[in-house]
Parts: sequence; structure tokens; C-alpha cells
Amino acid sequence: MSETARLEYGGKSYTLPVVHGTENETAVDISNLRAESGLITLDDGYGNTGSCLSAITYIDGDKGILRYRGYAIEELAEQCSFAECAHLVMFGELPNRGQLDEFRRLLRVHSFIHEDMRHHFEGFPPNAPPMAILSAMINAVGCFQPEVTVVDDDANFLEAAARVMSKVRTIAAYSYKKSRGEPVIYPRADLRYTANFLHMMFSKPYEPFEPDNDIVRALDQIWVLHADHEQNCSTSTVRMVGSSQANLFASVAAGVCALWGPLHGGANQAVIEMLTQIQASGEPVSKFIERVKSKDSKSLLMGFGHRVYRNFDPRAKIIKASCDKVLAKLGIHDPLLDIAKQLEEAALRDEYFISRKLYPNVDFYSGIIMRAIGIPLNMFTVMFAIGRVPGWIANWREVRLNPKARIYRPRQIYVGPTAREYVPISRR
Ligand code: SDX
Repeated sequence: MSETARLEYGGKSYTLPVVHGTENETAVDISNLRAESGLITLDDGYGNTGSCLSAITYIDGDKGILRYRGYAIEELAEQCSFAECAHLVMFGELPNRGQLDEFRRLLRVHSFIHEDMRHHFEGFPPNAPPMAILSAMINAVGCFQPEVTVVDDDANFLEAAARVMSKVRTIAAYSYKKSRGEPVIYPRADLRYTANFLHMMFSKPYEPFEPDNDIVRALDQIWVLHADHEQNCSTSTVRMVGSSQANLFASVAAGVCALWGPLHGGANQAVIEMLTQIQASGEPVSKFIERVKSKDSKSLLMGFGHRVYRNFDPRAKIIKASCDKVLAKLGIHDPLLDIAKQLEEAALRDEYFISRKLYPNVDFYSGIIMRAIGIPLNMFTVMFAIGRVPGWIANWREVRLNPKARIYRPRQIYVGPTAREYVPISRR
């Protein structure tokens, strides 16, 4: 006998099915609520609303658990390359040697963008935000591959996914070169995904950049940690756009736009800006913490807090440990890291943050590593986007393969003016 919930309203009683996930998350299924009762539910910001059944990522925000397709993020961050992890997120299983080699071949084969695309970069002003360029160019690349709409054939979808993942990375590197007035650097056939990105970013025609293996590993791990995160703002956006049967490029481009906001993927850049301001002010971190708590300054402790995690974001712990390793390897002492650690220590002892269950999230330390690698500040959110592409692709496909797929179309409660007559301008 399946479990049910009861709703009493207007002297009537409604019985609603209860749904349990494989990790015992429980939901009241309100799919038929409106048809049976005329009622809808209201949940501003969707804090209590499940938009879908998904088999990709599981988060337990109270225990600080994150798993992709059942594998713990700590294991994947330690053992997995980004290409291997992307394959797992998109296809549901860790690839065997042959599958991984084929995926890597496709990533290599599709690492170029059409030569005609290079002129598109001319159209952007020199200080164009890289996230604007990325979103625009992803859609532009889609114009050269209109056929990328196949979803139900694994081989075709693998190629489509490799195409999008590889070209997003190349577009990012090209936009960086463009912003510096340097010639774009073509991908090398002998380098894997992450090393090729660093090559395209930092090589010069007269001086090839040989990526350091530890740095490649650190960046690979950052992208593993960003690969997916269930129904976050940008992933929900990709699902929303995909539900209208828009193609993969258009859906991923929409995800880039949603990720750009400082409350979401833009936070990694905002954290560094916050740390830099604190450093420049010469103030003790306690002063900044007091300003955040006073609320009148509207300052947030960027990189802290999370809608789902009411405990440590497991990704923040991993990135923090990697910070120390990467900076030691590069022989860098970054005063911003010291400030970040002081902020974390102060916040974790402060009732304001404890009572609101505010802990460091994935963005709090990631910028320190990207600075050390030489990624410019305005490219930090682009780096987040590159990492999140596999998760967006996996969610897009999950929407499209859903046999009961319907266009996403939430309801609302109208609170505007009630019916009124038009007033000609002569009488206004
Ligand atoms: C990402 O969803 C995902 O999974 C996202 C992500 C992913 O992988 O896709 O994990 C990536 O986006 C991480 C979050 C990056 N953003 C930031 O670091 C920006 C700073 N954080 C906040 O903006 C905030 O914590 C959010 C947006 C992350 C979460 O916001 P919520 O869930 O809407 O929480 P809230 O605004 O309702 O806050 C509850 C209380 C409020 O105080 P009171 O009204 O109760 O007095 O906590 C306060 C907030 O003012 N608060 C903060 C704070 N975050 C929340 N106060 C100071 N500093 C903060 N960072």
C-alpha cells in the first residue's frame, strides 16, 4: 500500500501520493492537486519544491554529502580525471578504458571551433565580460552544428556532449587571448582536456607553455568538484530551456547566463574582490564580520552559505586542502589565503553564522587556486561554467529522455490590479 498525505481544505479532504527517493528523501506528489482541488502550492525561490526525479547527483545538506551517480565526491576528486568524471555524470557509469579513450578522442577531435567563428570575437569590445562572450559564442557555435539535437542514441549523444564540452573550453581560452590582444593558440593533439586548456590560455607563438602536472591535476580536480550539483539555479535553467526542446547549445548558453550572478557562480570572483577589499582596508577581519552582521551595509560574506548545505560544503574542504598544496608547489604565499582562513575561523565561531548554518561553500577557496594558476579574476566564473557543463548536459538529457517529459511551466498567484477599464490618454 503506497504512502499518502492528506490535505484538508474548504471542508474537503484530499489524498496525495508520497514519493520516496533511493536515499529516502520524501516528497508529497502534487501533480494532481490542482485538478482535484483547484489549489496550487506557493514556494518563492523553490526552497521546498522538488522540480523533478533525477538520478544524477545526491546531496545531503545536513551531513555535507555529495555524490555523483552514487560515488562520493571525496573519492572522485581524489581518483578521477575531469573527462572520466564528466563521462560518469553524463552517462551514469564510470567509463572503462575503451570508453574513456573514445571520449578523450572525441574531446580532441572537437577542440577546434570553425575558423569563421574567430571573426565573432572581433565584435566584442575589449573589456567584454567573458561570461557574455561565452554564452553568445556557445549559441554561435551551435549555428555551425544544428544537428546537435540527438538525445536518444548514446553514440551520437557522446559525440554531441564531447563537442559542447570541448568547444566551451576552447571558446573560453580564445576569449582570454582576445581580451589580451594576443593571437589565439590552437589546441594541441598531444594534450588532454585540462592541459590543453592551460596551453591555449598561456602559450604564446614564440613561447610554448608546458603545463605543470600538479597544476593540471589541481585544475582538473576543481572541474571535478564543479561538474554537477543537482537542481541549482543554472542547472534548473538548463532543464527549463531543455524542456521546451531547445537544442543543447541554446540550453547550455542559458545555463551560463544563470551561473553568472554573484549569488551563484559569480561568487568565486566576488570572494576575491571581498578579500582584496579587506586587505586594502588594512582592517582586521573582525571589522568586516561586524559589517556583515549589521546588515545595513548589505555586505555578505561571499563564499559562505548555501541553500542546501547546512553544514560544510564537502567541496570547500577539498579545495581548501588543495590551496595549500598548489601554493606550496608554486612557492606562492598569497595574503588573501591568510585573510580567507581568518574569516572562516571568525565566522565559524560567531553565533550569527552558526545560528544561520552558514559555512564555506565551493566558491570560498576556489579563487585562491585560480589566482595562483594565473587565471584572471574576470575568468573565474567561466572556469566554474567549464566545470559545470557535464552536469548541464546530463540534466538536459534527463529531461529530454523522460518518457513523461512536459514543458516546464510553473503556476503563480496573481497579486496585481483586478479588472479595470482602459482610460484614454486625454483623460489620464
Ligand atoms: C553556488 O545551489 C547550488 O548548489 C549552488 C552551487 C552549485 O554548485 O551550483 O553550490 C554554487 O552558487 C554556491 C553559493 C555561492 N554564493 C555565495 O557564496 C554568495 C553568498 N551566499 C548567499 O548569497 C546565500 O548564502 C546563498 C545565495 C548561497 C543562499 O541563499 P539562501 O538559501 O536564499 O539563504 P538566505 O538568503 O535565505 O539566508 C538566510 C539568512 C539570511 O539572514 P536572516 O534574513 O535570516 O537574518 O542567512 C543570511 C541571510 O541574510 N545569509 C548570509 C549569507 N548567506 C545567507 N549572511 C551573510 N553572508 C552570507 N554569505
